[in-house]
Amino acid sequence: MKGIILAGGYGSRLQPITLAVSKQLLPVNDKPLIYYPVSALMLADIRDILIIALPEDIPQLHRLLGDGSHLGISLTYAEQPVPNGLAQAFITGADHIGDESVALVLGDNIFHGNGFYDLLLQHRQNLEGCVLFGYPVTDPERYGVGEVDESGRLVSLEEKPEKPRSNLAITGLYLYDNDVVEIARQVRPSARGELEITDVNRTYLAADRARLVTFGRGFAWLDAGTPQSLLQAGHYVQTLEDRQGVRIACLEEVALRMGFIDADACHRLGAKLSRSGYGEYVMAVASELGA
Ligand code: TTP
Repeated sequence: MKGIILAGGYGSRLQPITLAVSKQLLPVNDKPLIYYPVSALMLADIRDILIIALPEDIPQLHRLLGDGSHLGISLTYAEQPVPNGLAQAFITGADHIGDESVALVLGDNIFHGNGFYDLLLQHRQNLEGCVLFGYPVTDPERYGVGEVDESGRLVSLEEKPEKPRSNLAITGLYLYDNDVVEIARQVRPSARGELEITDVNRTYLAADRARLVTFGRGFAWLDAGTPQSLLQAGHYVQTLEDRQGVRIACLEEVALRMGFIDADACHRLGAKLSRSGYGEYVMAVASELGA
């Protein structure tokens, strides 16, 4: 399975902060926002990842993450000159996807909770059609909303409905079989001029090939699209990290635990950042696990 991170977009709700810097590079407590979606894909054991971004943001993203080889993964970059909708990811990323299945994650989405890793691995195995992830929210009318039957089959999908049929918001993590490329190519631009991912998902739904998996209580799904939610995400991460002494979405740690790099390599990565608490943590984890 290939991975795609969609990290374009103007971040207009965060202006003026985002006038000169990509939203995905803004800090969420101790690390840039994009670390969180990168770690989500790594936890799903996905090692070949395409990052799609505005052309002007690619040099900084590359400066931060490079080609991924230090983490035992492959990171490549593609331009999306204008944010023409989430479904464009599959067209821009068609060569990257090749004949494989694909996981798409939005660059400003944060997933955290017990069992995330198991859930991802479970659903990427034997993937047939698409798997969407739903999260119960108090304001579903702001989101794409999914309704499921008892077996977890998706039965309806609505975009920002006035009267939602459920409280399950569709999160920014999606798993698709290889048909998604062809399906995305058939999608027509919406009234907003965008290739909407909901239209892709509706095609799977119409063919009865869509599942919606619900994240349970105690699971956190955050997006960092507004000043409030960015700060809330930072506080959430800070609270957990300070209280438990573990770090969320520490890429070097994830790479080590997933077996993508060994403890010595992890320790060297931490040493490069040794003046920060983050670097100290990476070195400590590497020592604990064998360096
Ligand atoms: P949004 O939050 O919908 O858009 P945005 O990031 O441009 O922010 P704003 O609405 O404040 O202008 O996008 C969600 C994520 O998806 C975000 O990480 C950017 C990304 N995205 C793209 O990469 N390309 C696109 O065409 C769109 C619509 C979003």
